[in-house]
Amino acid sequence: MKNTAKTSHPTSTANASTANTSTTNTSAAKARPRDYKYVYLRLWKYLSYHRWTLILALTLTVLSGTLGINGTALAGEAIGAIAGESEGSVYYYLILMVICYTASTVISYLLSVMMVSISHKMACKMRTDVYNKLLKLPVSFFDKKQTGEIVSTVTYDINTVNESLSTDFIQIVSSLVTVVYSFVLMLTVSPVLILVFVVTIPCSLLFTRFISRRVRPLFRKRSAALGEMNGYVEEMIAGHKTIRIYGREDEVLSGFEEKNEAARAAYTVAEANGTMTGPTVNLINNLSLALVNLFGALLYMGGGILTLTGLSKFVLLSRKFSGPINQIANIYADIQSSLAASERVFHLLDEEEEVLDSEGAGELTVTSGLVELSDVSFGYGKDKPVLKGLSLRAEPGSVTAIVGPTGAGKTTVINLLMRFYDIDSGSITIDGVSIYSLRRDSLRRAFTMVLQDTWLFRGTIYENVAYGSEGASREEVERVCRAAKIHNFIISLPEGYDTPLSEAAKNISKGQKQLLTIARAMLIDSSMLILDEATSNVDSKTERDISEAMISLMKDKTVFVIAHRLSTVVSADKILVVKDGDVVEQGTHAELLSQGGFYSELYSAQFEI
Ligand SMILES: Nc1ncnc2c1ncn2[C@@H]1O[C@H](COP(=O)(O)OP(=O)(O)OP(=O)(O)O)[C@@H](O)[C@H]1O
Ligand SMILES: [Mg+2]
Repeated sequence: MKNTAKTSHPTSTANASTANTSTTNTSAAKARPRDYKYVYLRLWKYLSYHRWTLILALTLTVLSGTLGINGTALAGEAIGAIAGESEGSVYYYLILMVICYTASTVISYLLSVMMVSISHKMACKMRTDVYNKLLKLPVSFFDKKQTGEIVSTVTYDINTVNESLSTDFIQIVSSLVTVVYSFVLMLTVSPVLILVFVVTIPCSLLFTRFISRRVRPLFRKRSAALGEMNGYVEEMIAGHKTIRIYGREDEVLSGFEEKNEAARAAYTVAEANGTMTGPTVNLINNLSLALVNLFGALLYMGGGILTLTGLSKFVLLSRKFSGPINQIANIYADIQSSLAASERVFHLLDEEEEVLDSEGAGELTVTSGLVELSDVSFGYGKDKPVLKGLSLRAEPGSVTAIVGPTGAGKTTVINLLMRFYDIDSGSITIDGVSIYSLRRDSLRRAFTMVLQDTWLFRGTIYENVAYGSEGASREEVERVCRAAKIHNFIISLPEGYDTPLSEAAKNISKGQKQLLTIARAMLIDSSMLILDEATSNVDSKTERDISEAMISLMKDKTVFVIAHRLSTVVSADKILVVKDGDVVEQGTHAELLSQGGFYSELYSAQFEI
């Protein structure tokens, strides 16, 4: 017999181990969907692609179930034949029995294959849909959500739906068929004897209900304990260096032991209680069988109300009958949790997408590259303004540097320029055209960005540099790598440009990663360039060399440079000093220094002049 709590929870933690702790806990807590109608409708949309296969599967389930029950009924007839009650010979019934059981097994195998195929097709489509959706969601979605939570929906939640569809669905239908059909057959044998079940079935149902109510919270606690422990391990792995630097190994270990012990205790209690269910339900079923035997025998002996054939049939059928009733109750709970999982998937699919471009939005054709922000106000949340009436003008074909203290709003300006977020008031124009009247993709294509957070994927160095410029030749890639001062390092590697970058590109240094992303940006021929702390991990000499190469490459293009290291920006055509969400000073390096304002303060703090 299937134990609900057992099947639904442990996997949730095991699979969500990559996710963070809170995710694991919430998925265990939300065991029921909130809106059934919504979930059913959405599920049906996916299933309706396979409706004919589903109908065939349903028909086969009914066929396989009834054949199985008929086999059992034939066993009763065979016993009757021994006693001389039936017309046919024992062998005749035995052969029929073998045929029924074999056919039922073959059909049920076909059926499983069909359901597995449908459910995997559905899961595959769901995963693609979710992935596609993720590509369309606004940047703010990813700023708010935990990565682990999203990954857990794409993998674990969809998998739960998949498993439930491929097994629970057939099980519930075949259990229903078994219960109904064996009940009908028993009714034709002896309506009186059915009365035994009036007592035993409610007992067994009440008992399973009682047990599952008691056990489910224990399994939930077990999941939570495992989640806690997983979270602790993740934290340790992420912070292993810090732990060693501060010499906290012993404390961390004792913390782990505590969590490990709590997990052990939760596991033991949950499973000790859970394993009680199977044997006890068996006992109730066996007792009910004994009652059927007792009353059946009385009916047989007392005036032949029941024949031996009838009695054997009834006893055999009653065994078939009572098992699935408890099973249905258990599968029901399984289905609940898989409906809740699919609800999470559908909620993700229904997240609001990046607002579509307005009708008639035009292509951006950069003629000179004049970028202007005037009186721009913006806040990530309603109550906390980040930019307060900021105005700036980046002259065409010039290098504009944005400097200012941490959290001043420099990156925010770029986020707005790329339309990752929309402004609250003011205007942003390129060559006099509002960016809000342009198609987002054409706006983004006009810019190349190099960010502080480098993003490299698993692939060779060549593939990583050529990302976004598909079809770039080896020579072109080498040219930009030379300009980005990374060529010599690359050719010193045994496999050169074909060196695969490992997961998270741990085999190269942070500065080298930045140089690769700069080379990548140099390869792209867009009209404007944004460097947000792009060389923060690179030494000063290399940084200067790169900026020169960059500037010569980006001649006649509008360039934004954001940097904390002011040596990077001294040669910029214009420096904008941003403080508390507004531009407080602007001019060339020399002008700003001579003003003796905030910039010169920043500068002298760095160089102590
Ligand atoms: N995605 C976000 N959601 C909410 N608030 C944010 C978000 N990004 C930034 N902020 C807030 O906006 C303000 C400006 O952040 P921004 O990233 O623009 O600063 P910055 O000038 O680039 O700083 P740094 O020099 O550290 O990169 C900060 O107070 C920050 O807390
Ligand atoms: Mg920033």
